[in-house]
Amino acid sequence: MKIGVIGGSGIYQIEGVPSTEISVNTEYGEVKVFLAQVDDREVYFLPRHGLGHSVPPHLVNYRANIRALQGLGAQRIIATNAVGSLNPEIKPGTVVLVDQFLDFTKGRKSTFFEEGKVVHTDMTNPYCPEMIEVASKITTPFPLRKGGVMVVTEGPRFETAAEVKAFAMLGGDVVGMTSVPEVVLSREAGMCYLSLAIVSNFAAGLQEQVSHEEVLNIMDKLNNQVQMFILDLIKAM
Ligand code: HPA
Repeated sequence: MKIGVIGGSGIYQIEGVPSTEISVNTEYGEVKVFLAQVDDREVYFLPRHGLGHSVPPHLVNYRANIRALQGLGAQRIIATNAVGSLNPEIKPGTVVLVDQFLDFTKGRKSTFFEEGKVVHTDMTNPYCPEMIEVASKITTPFPLRKGGVMVVTEGPRFETAAEVKAFAMLGGDVVGMTSVPEVVLSREAGMCYLSLAIVSNFAAGLQEQVSHEEVLNIMDKLNNQVQMFILDLIKAM
């Protein structure tokens, strides 16, 4: 089993797991990936925003990242996404195994199929039901919620209070900036994709203010626990 791990904000490696950095060339650009071994699984770790968080969500080279993991032979992807909560029942510090998305991104390169043959990829259940099932059975020190709707915005700004109200009315549970097109491209490439949506705050209007520092603070606190969770998950695949 070969597994790609895409680390979002605050998650840049898996501590205690030695890795080797390699460069993967794709038709969309070069990608740095860290190779590691966990039991008999090969793990490809890819920090989405680069080391030191230098690439903002709207400028991530999603196609290069997913193509690189596909080229390495990854069959499954575990991704982390920092999110705000739209749902009073979902508190900061929770990890949501989201099972649906609402796409509010604009202007991103969201497909591998731009010209040539026409391909429409089934997106009924974009997030891997099998991986959600396995993940939901793992015991965690943080609240883990099975299922939820992820709204994905273009960013890099946070939402307005009115947008948050509207997203909640549409059925959204959490809002983030990175799951689309990542999950879409993974499905197009035939890989099973799991998102660990890490709730760092209540979204705009549900708390006084939203700041990037607050997001990074919570991610810092949860970092080790989420890394351990990812390790358990890799072993359970
Ligand atoms: N909105 C969008 N993305 C986020 C948020 C938020 O409130 N928190 C962390 N990522």
